[in-house]
Amino acid sequence: MAFINLLSTAVLSVLVGQAAATAAPTDANADVLQYVNQLIGSSNGGNVFPGATLPYGMAKAVADTNSGSNQGGFTTDGSDVTGFSNMHDSGTGGSPSLGLFSLFPYAGCAGDDVNGCAYPKKTRAIPFDNSSVVATPGYFGLTLNSGVKADMTVTQHTSLFRFNFPAKDSYGQVSKPLVLMDLTDLSDSRQDNATVSVDAETGRITGNGRFLPSFGSGSYVAYFCADFSGGKLRDNGIFANSRASTAVKDLTISRSINGYPLPGGAFVRFDSPGDASILARVGVSLISSDQACSNAEAEIPSFDFDATHTAAESAWREKISPISISTTGVDNSFIVNFYSGIYRTMVNPQDYTGENPLWQSDEPYFDSFYCIWDLFRSQTPFLTVLDPATVARMVRSLIDTYVHEGWLPDCRMSLCKGYTQGGSNADNILGDAYLKGISDGIDWKLGYEAVVNDAENEPYDWSNEGRGGLDSWKSLGYIPVQDFDYKGFGTMTRSVSRTLEYSYNDFVIAQIAAGLGESNDAEKYTGRSENWENLFKQNQTSFFANGTDTGFQGFFQPKYLNQSWGFQDPLKCSNIDTNPNSVCSLQNTGAETFESSIWEYSFFVPHDQATLIAYFGGPSAYVERLNFLHDQDITYIGNEPAFLTVFQYHYAGRPALSALRSHFYIPGFFAPTDAGLPGNDDSGAMGSFVAFSMMGLFPNPGQNVYLITPPYFESVSITHPVTNKTATIRNVNFDPTYKNIYIQSATLDGKNYTKNWIDHSFFTEGKELVLTLGSLESSWGTTVADLPPSLGTYVGFGNSTTKSAGHLRRAMTFDGHRDSVFPNTMPDLGRDFKTGGAYWAEAAGKRRM
Ligand SMILES: *[C@@H]1O[C@H](CO)[C@@H](O)[C@H](O)[C@H]1NC(C)=O
Ligand SMILES: *[C@@H]1O[C@H](CO)[C@@H](O)[C@H](O)[C@H]1NC(C)=O
Ligand SMILES: *[C@@H]1O[C@H](CO)[C@@H](O)[C@H](O)[C@H]1NC(C)=O
Ligand SMILES: *[C@@H]1O[C@H](CO)[C@@H](O)[C@H](O)[C@H]1NC(C)=O
Ligand SMILES: *[C@@H]1O[C@H](CO)[C@@H](O)[C@H](O)[C@H]1NC(C)=O
Ligand SMILES: *[C@@H]1O[C@H](CO)[C@@H](O)[C@H](O)[C@H]1NC(C)=O
Ligand SMILES: *[C@@H]1O[C@H](CO)[C@@H](O)[C@H](O)[C@H]1NC(C)=O
Ligand SMILES: *[C@@H]1O[C@H](CO)[C@@H](O)[C@H](O)[C@H]1NC(C)=O
Repeated sequence: MAFINLLSTAVLSVLVGQAAATAAPTDANADVLQYVNQLIGSSNGGNVFPGATLPYGMAKAVADTNSGSNQGGFTTDGSDVTGFSNMHDSGTGGSPSLGLFSLFPYAGCAGDDVNGCAYPKKTRAIPFDNSSVVATPGYFGLTLNSGVKADMTVTQHTSLFRFNFPAKDSYGQVSKPLVLMDLTDLSDSRQDNATVSVDAETGRITGNGRFLPSFGSGSYVAYFCADFSGGKLRDNGIFANSRASTAVKDLTISRSINGYPLPGGAFVRFDSPGDASILARVGVSLISSDQACSNAEAEIPSFDFDATHTAAESAWREKISPISISTTGVDNSFIVNFYSGIYRTMVNPQDYTGENPLWQSDEPYFDSFYCIWDLFRSQTPFLTVLDPATVARMVRSLIDTYVHEGWLPDCRMSLCKGYTQGGSNADNILGDAYLKGISDGIDWKLGYEAVVNDAENEPYDWSNEGRGGLDSWKSLGYIPVQDFDYKGFGTMTRSVSRTLEYSYNDFVIAQIAAGLGESNDAEKYTGRSENWENLFKQNQTSFFANGTDTGFQGFFQPKYLNQSWGFQDPLKCSNIDTNPNSVCSLQNTGAETFESSIWEYSFFVPHDQATLIAYFGGPSAYVERLNFLHDQDITYIGNEPAFLTVFQYHYAGRPALSALRSHFYIPGFFAPTDAGLPGNDDSGAMGSFVAFSMMGLFPNPGQNVYLITPPYFESVSITHPVTNKTATIRNVNFDPTYKNIYIQSATLDGKNYTKNWIDHSFFTEGKELVLTLGSLESSWGTTVADLPPSLGTYVGFGNSTTKSAGHLRRAMTFDGHRDSVFPNTMPDLGRDFKTGGAYWAEAAGKRRM
């Protein structure tokens, strides 16, 4: 999901990492955590959560700012800090999620009067010392301009904050701190009747509130339990709006009627702590305040900050260290980019097992699948490589959600159903895991039932689950524009992108069916997976806004119920669409493609690239079109549908161009800087794109396929956490200035290997792939026999697709120029098939089931 304004997205020009400026440490035992920069994506719309969390942790502690882009809590865009809260999502668009239950510390109040402090977050917001920010795995800290230093660490359900106060407060008096706890959330969604109580003796604060999910339906209740340690308790009380009292200990507060939840909460005051820290331990729960307290007591019994921090670091080290690289010669920024991307894949989804109030079950419960439309493309596939045991638990959770809610989610956050963006893409996650042998505790028969439910049954409300238009889908073989659908309801837009996504969902379901021996179903869903062809209009042209012909013909188009064509400009909702009337997201006036153009969706046939290539007029024309997509800025890498297009050259027998395109985007568009992400990280989707790309294997998600490009390091090793076998990809002739990025030859476990893809057994069986690199494109991986699997048959491939290797100019110098980098004239394939779609589709002789 990208809630960037597609029309005004400026091309990111941040460029870092002039190659090989400084040599990186080569110590194989170096701590990988030193390479994690959590602040990547903390400004410029990356919306990452840069604070303290465990892998998949529910407690996520950070300073929140009042930035307009504070979806991840903290930002480095110069906004002020409003407090320190306990739960977050990462990288999301939509409204900010969570940010629940905010602490705010004062060294003292004016006149030493509780009413001398500001309570509402609008009035208490304060700048911080930019140079004081420290964000490392399991840790976050900064110093407010008041001189109060705050740092924090976490366990699974508990945050531990440490406040150090200056000797004197802002009024020149000896510090006598007040720490308040606000019943707030980032998007001010709190509903009626939130409550808070403070225990007069111990200062323990408990409370709860009902809040709204940030991109979904319904509401949820969250609870907390805060205990303090380290200072001598002075007194305590509650506040409502801007006034406070030590005489009152309990509060139930309205949302009020003015659209803004009334500020309310509790506070604790301390006598002067001197140099001592005041620690605040905040347990969170979605079950009860009692459970929040017991979580906190069990996880951080003695307020030991260093031990908690050390345990968090160990948890991260254990998760990340299965991946090791040779750092020889490589600029440190590349190493940081890689490991930080890996880190971000394990911030969301979040493990809420034991915290689900919605149903009783022994299955794991994960939340913050935010959203699966984003995650399926590379994030969950990346976790399948690095952390398959957790992927198994996520899949079990998705299946259990189907059992208890009736549907697999397409998006889920804060115990609520999130909005669907296109297809039922949990099918892709399940299929990807199934094909890669993830089985640990998964009832695949039940999983299959869940995906068939998506394919066969239309939900009443398909804006939250499943698919709409299934009658048309089954009878007409496409989702019509302005469908007649009286069985279920959702936003009647995106007919083209929904048709494409449903087609792929059905292909993935067919593969699970085949694996489970359901051969009739496999045939049925394979048939439906070809529905995309019904929206391909052979003679559709595409013109730029200035009237110039793009020169390409044959595009998907909307089609009415009566089978006649509608029309959508193939460039509408593209990155170069400047029409102010283009509406491209979930609005009910939205386009027939979601968050992108027909141009980009043209490539979204992940299962049948062979037939698509034929429709486009053969491999040469396909490559020319793919180059045009990237070089003309039609696609934007800051949104997930662009990911696979970087590597789809493989299917046209041009793996060298995928490697070149990968270096075109990394680090030019994915830089290891605060502003370095091109769009919302989307729970770590962008992070996984960087990690897979730099590792040299990019998945076609939902298939047992990784497309091979040279890693950005001399070698990359991944030890399978279950089998303990180590898979290694090694570059011979590795060049850290990235001029030798073309595979000349390869061996797999010592034997020549010419296929340009590999399957998941590479990881589970710990194979070794050795790539010999050169500075020119070679014939490696270019023949039909070398190409990844495709439903249809590859046609139109000559015997010497890329023999004219020297033709490829290696002109890219990381100087940000996007033009003149890619060859527009392809090696001679004998004829120009650019507009020969009909001919080639007929010639394709596709397998039909
Ligand atoms: C704070 O420092 C970071 C670098 O650590 C920088 O990217 C950011 O622009 C700075 N913010 C402000 C408001 O100066
Ligand atoms: C809030 O509490 C009041 C008083 O008990 C009650 O009348 C009201 O219905 C409650 N509101 C909600 C939304 O539950
Ligand atoms: C394009 O093809 C359609 C049939 O698919 C036909 O009705 C239409 O006339 C053609 N348009 C042009 C401009 O050739
Ligand atoms: C029209 O726009 C395209 C894309 O920006 C550009 O390449 C082309 O030169 C323009 N043509 C004219 C006549 O301005
Ligand atoms: C099909 O339906 C569309 C939309 O209602 C209409 O504009 C078009 O004229 C119809 N075509 C035919 C052949 O009836
Ligand atoms: C993998 O290694 C770990 C730790 O060394 C060990 O406990 C485990 O038994 C090993 N698993 C297998 C399948 O060898
Ligand atoms: C393997 O490839 C190398 C060079 O790429 C070639 O010289 C050799 O003959 C090949 N071996 C086999 C068995 O094909
Ligand atoms: C490749 O070359 C062989 C022999 O020269 C020829 O028989 C075959 O038809 C060619 N294949 C293609 C796809 O051109």
